[in-house]
Amino acid sequence: MKFETKAIHIGEEPNLREGGSGDVVIPIHLSSTFARKEINIPTNGYEYSRSGNPTRNALEKKLAALEDARFGLAFSSGLAAETTIALALLNSNDNVIAFDDLYGGTRRLFNKIFKKNFNIDFNYVDATKTENVINAVNKNTKMVWLETPTNPLLKLCDIKEISEFCRKKGIIVVVDNTFMSPYLQKPLNLGADIAVHSTTKYINGHSDSIGGAIMTSNEELHNAIRFSQNAAGAILSPFDSFLVARGIKTLSVRMEKHNKNAIDIADYLSKHKKVSKVNYPGLFSHPQHELAKKQMTGFGGMISFEINGGLKESRKFLQSLEIFSLAESLGGVESLIEHPAL
Ligand SMILES: Cc1ncc(COP(=O)(O)O)c(C=O)c1O
Repeated sequence: MKFETKAIHIGEEPNLREGGSGDVVIPIHLSSTFARKEINIPTNGYEYSRSGNPTRNALEKKLAALEDARFGLAFSSGLAAETTIALALLNSNDNVIAFDDLYGGTRRLFNKIFKKNFNIDFNYVDATKTENVINAVNKNTKMVWLETPTNPLLKLCDIKEISEFCRKKGIIVVVDNTFMSPYLQKPLNLGADIAVHSTTKYINGHSDSIGGAIMTSNEELHNAIRFSQNAAGAILSPFDSFLVARGIKTLSVRMEKHNKNAIDIADYLSKHKKVSKVNYPGLFSHPQHELAKKQMTGFGGMISFEINGGLKESRKFLQSLEIFSLAESLGGVESLIEHPAL
């Protein structure tokens, strides 16, 4: 199956067996618990909705298929997914090497919770150069945490090169693939161990659900994360699982359109006399344009840019826009703009 076919059909095969109603769309199973015929045998594997829910499980199969992964898990937010990775796989005194331009919320989680409360050491490096990652490794390094392109500077790192090095050292590679979506970049196929997403963004795509996802083909990692997900309880609700599964069906067409629109806008901005800098991996001027072409199948819908002037001019510009909403987030069908520092 090609990506588009998987996005529509996987996890939502109509149940045409005896007693099945043949729904072509996964029903929303709101039940919090599931009755048993026999005391020690859960019905079709379901016991309690935190541990497993038919709507969420359908979405999880779809999520796995999109990243060419064996396993998928759906979480109550992107940060809940990230938290669960750390809870499952990190211990006090472990060292994590992370890209120095991560989404601010990820950095806050690492520094203010996992470093402060659990004494996990985070070392932020400019991962645009693979040697900076390699040189930062020490005997306690357990994980390398990448985001590519980064939020907000659209910096890239070479997933394949870094993963090849980490594999030899037994270091787990996590890639936050939110900015690309599985349609434009597949970190697991490039050698990473875990892909993590804020499904709030492109995967759901309609700015009406907060969610997260983890995909991996490593059974040991999957089991550890799944155990922690159930133990800590960071699950996606049945209604949100339905929404995300529904959003995914148009992921490919949305990403194609985002790509096209972003290229036009980046091109326009880069020629504008009041714009001093445009960060977009699709521009020839992007320092990692060649890497972008190598590891991504499109350049995505995210652009950051600088205009001439300072805060005063930025405010004036942002407040003069008519179609773009001044709101944080990304990946929905409407266009948003924000000033990260404000
Ligand atoms: C790259 C990236 N990762 C993770 C997150 C966190 O996701 P959520 O807001 O769903 O918790 C965000 C949110 O903006 C993000 O941009």
